[in-house]
Amino acid sequence: MSNNIYDIISEISKRRGFFWSSFEIYGGIAGYVTYGDYGVKLKRNIEALWREYFIRKQGFFEIDDPITNPSKVFEASGHLANFKEYATICNQCGRGFRADHLIEEKIAKEHVEALGGEAIKQLLIENKIKCPVCGGELKEPTLVLTMFQTQIGATGNDIGYMRPEAAQGMFMNFKRCFQANRERIPFAICQQGRVMRNEISPRRGVHRTREFDIMELELFFDPLNPSCPWLKDVENEKIRLLTEDMVEKEVDDPIEITVKEAIDRKILLTEWQGYFMGVSKKFLCALGVSDDKQRFRAHLPNERSHYSSQTFDQEVFTKSWGWIEVSGHANRTDYDLNSHMKASGVDMTVIRPDKTRFIPHVIEPSFGLGRLVYVVMEFAFIQKQANNAKRNIFKFPRDLAPYHISIQPLVSKDGLPEIALHIYNQLLDAGYRAVYDEGGSIGRRYARQDEIGTPLAITIDYDTKEKGIATIRDRDTWMQVSISIKELEEKLKLYYKGAEISELGPIFQSNEEQ
Ligand code: GLY
Repeated sequence: MSNNIYDIISEISKRRGFFWSSFEIYGGIAGYVTYGDYGVKLKRNIEALWREYFIRKQGFFEIDDPITNPSKVFEASGHLANFKEYATICNQCGRGFRADHLIEEKIAKEHVEALGGEAIKQLLIENKIKCPVCGGELKEPTLVLTMFQTQIGATGNDIGYMRPEAAQGMFMNFKRCFQANRERIPFAICQQGRVMRNEISPRRGVHRTREFDIMELELFFDPLNPSCPWLKDVENEKIRLLTEDMVEKEVDDPIEITVKEAIDRKILLTEWQGYFMGVSKKFLCALGVSDDKQRFRAHLPNERSHYSSQTFDQEVFTKSWGWIEVSGHANRTDYDLNSHMKASGVDMTVIRPDKTRFIPHVIEPSFGLGRLVYVVMEFAFIQKQANNAKRNIFKFPRDLAPYHISIQPLVSKDGLPEIALHIYNQLLDAGYRAVYDEGGSIGRRYARQDEIGTPLAITIDYDTKEKGIATIRDRDTWMQVSISIKELEEKLKLYYKGAEISELGPIFQSNEEQ
């Protein structure tokens, strides 16, 4: 069995049902992933936390806009002209690859895309790069549009594209949402939903897929009044930054400064940029990623999207692939509203109290949900020795775990399953994500729950039947405590507010598996 953490997590994911390659029965296609029950629940829980950090307390708006868009939208937004990558095709086997990725793998250099087209062509030749599959000669790289095209309706006359970002929905619907917000600014429109990118060479499982969920927020503000009312909440938050200058000089060791310092020193051009970067750092900490495994890396001008005047990628250091991007923080200026205003003829301006008009500027924090699922899994994953075997455990932050608690009768007789099912239903009614587990030895059932990351397991035994007492076992310490069934819901509430297992009741066993 492989010792590579990505291989181990992928194997557990398939076997237990977090995620696996789609279209398996037809041989699969790279870049598509199906989430199973545990994966879907993990995804939804991450999404719910995103809403807590970015939407609910700020009172921002959410929308749900179509995935298929008429071509006019992406002509206006600049995507049809710019949403392209350098692809090279093998002369021998006909396979296509992203030229910058082949170079990165050959010369162990990152962000080759930022060097631009001519450098990519040159590096491919200089490094004598051949087809990684058959060894054949590669054609000169050309720019390829990475949006999926479709037709809207049956005539074939109306070309549509699948959205590669959710953002355009927020720009097109800005006026309606602005009205619904009683014409107050600043405010944000957010959207979580599916996007599609026809990746040339998708790789690394959930890291780069052709369809994925995005969690995107567009904050609209007046460029003459760019202050953020919530900055105080994060201004002393320390963030690790690689500035544009540092990236240019290939410095890899970030500076650590507070959000406020980064704004004061004009490393970040607006308070809103700083606010969302501070919130994003806290969000990643809540997902289980420690400060020292996070950084923000500035994009070089060549690397920035066509709409951006400043972008920072939030990166996480994974054992599987090193630094990977989990969110992008772009200053989109008034580019998008302006473009849609010109293309549609609809006025996108807003009026100030002094009656002057302006097009709002935009700061966008944008997260890929699939990558977060993998990051959460990798950071939660540990292996522990138990009874001479290695035990896989996902120590998910408690609220993120697919299930809160498993309920298991000690044996399948003497009325214990009936009592366990009664408690299971009671916990479902109370809103817990509970799972009933009756198969195999208790040890095997604990192992199963460890491997899907369930924080608590309650065992229903003869003491439950006779005295109303059960044992609760904690995933992280393997400690078991006794609790009265009457107090179960109250104790669970305490635990899910952060109490330790030892605070819930007297210790029954301190570590049963060793
Ligand atoms: N809207 C962010 C992106 O397209 O990556």
